[in-house]
Amino acid sequence: MESVPHGGRLINRVELDYSIDLLLNEIELDNLELSDIELIANGAYSPLEGFMGKKDYDSVVERMRLSNGLPWSLPITLAVNQKKAEELSIGEKVNLVHNGLIYGVMQITEKFSPSKKFEAKMVYRTTDLAHPGVKKLFERPDIYISGPISLIKKSEKEKFPAYYLDPIQTRARFKELGWKTVVGFQTRNPVHRAHEYIQKSALETVDGLFLNPLVGETKADDIPSEIRMKSYQVLLENYYPKNRVFLSVFPAAMRYAGPREAIFHAIVRKNFGCTHFIVGRDHAGVGNYYGTYDSQKIFSHFSEEELGIKPLFFEHSFYCKKCENMASEKTCPHESDHHVILSGTKVRGMLKNGEKPPKEFSRPEVVDILIQGMKEVYSIN
Ligand code: ADX
Repeated sequence: MESVPHGGRLINRVELDYSIDLLLNEIELDNLELSDIELIANGAYSPLEGFMGKKDYDSVVERMRLSNGLPWSLPITLAVNQKKAEELSIGEKVNLVHNGLIYGVMQITEKFSPSKKFEAKMVYRTTDLAHPGVKKLFERPDIYISGPISLIKKSEKEKFPAYYLDPIQTRARFKELGWKTVVGFQTRNPVHRAHEYIQKSALETVDGLFLNPLVGETKADDIPSEIRMKSYQVLLENYYPKNRVFLSVFPAAMRYAGPREAIFHAIVRKNFGCTHFIVGRDHAGVGNYYGTYDSQKIFSHFSEEELGIKPLFFEHSFYCKKCENMASEKTCPHESDHHVILSGTKVRGMLKNGEKPPKEFSRPEVVDILIQGMKEVYSIN
């Protein structure tokens, strides 16, 4: 089984020796757009070569496919306000700027006004502004500007620079490790025993595990990425064989689009070189907007061939005190009062108070890192 990039080839739109033209018009990028231009340019979003035009956007929103029919589940767009849109002309080259620095250039091919309500309904399955992805969508300006981009400067990776690898690099690494089959794991949380259980269950049937935590923009109450990274490192040191797992980060913003984002996460991990992808319970979900297994069910819209990556589905997993083991409804016959299940909100609350979740829920080494990290972040002594 070989991992072929989505659309057939890995896109490369990184042009670091590009000569900057300061006289061009500018578009200011927000954090989400800044991370998106890097991921378009380094091929993580192959076959995209820029921000989506209206035809692709409509097709993605309505039927989860690019206009050429290739599966793609999330719109990737650049938003500007009405005034800015009026200043810009089709065919014009613009600098893409963030905090006074030029990171990219774009050739404008189109400007269009989306129906955000429709986008929210189709992509997020709700128009509720309490949903963090929907809130972000409605906070963005109203006009989408599209066109191919080039990345001319990479953003500073201050926190854990060694863990930012482009798809071409992760692919090379998997080859060096001799892995023919690689399972990708998306996470925006510390890895707890349930995560470890499903990762290792998957690893029993493939050559390697690609632990690929998302470290782009997340909602305020998610645990900051610098704390999570330390927790992943200590977990891998203590509980994983070194030649079977590889850690690098996914710098995208979290959309919290549940099922649609699960498809997106899988396709992107294929571009990083994975052959398999883990989808557990409520993947990329938030609140109660999605059913526990909606992110698995959505895969039935596509054939395995057209996705080109095999999803591995896992039931809600937990530690069972009677089994003295990690388990799920599929493998454990006992009543739920024997199961150690804690919600993310509950765990974050415990950690903030310096309280340790039980070792059946989370490895003690991980808990120590998280409590220490939360103390530093929230300055609780
Ligand atoms: S996510 O937003 O990145 O999906 P999280 O980091 O919690 O959130 O989940 C990472 C992956 O682990 C997802 O595929 C999710 O479905 C899965 N997962 C998380 N907790 C469990 C659990 N208790 N049982 C089974 N799968 C889980």
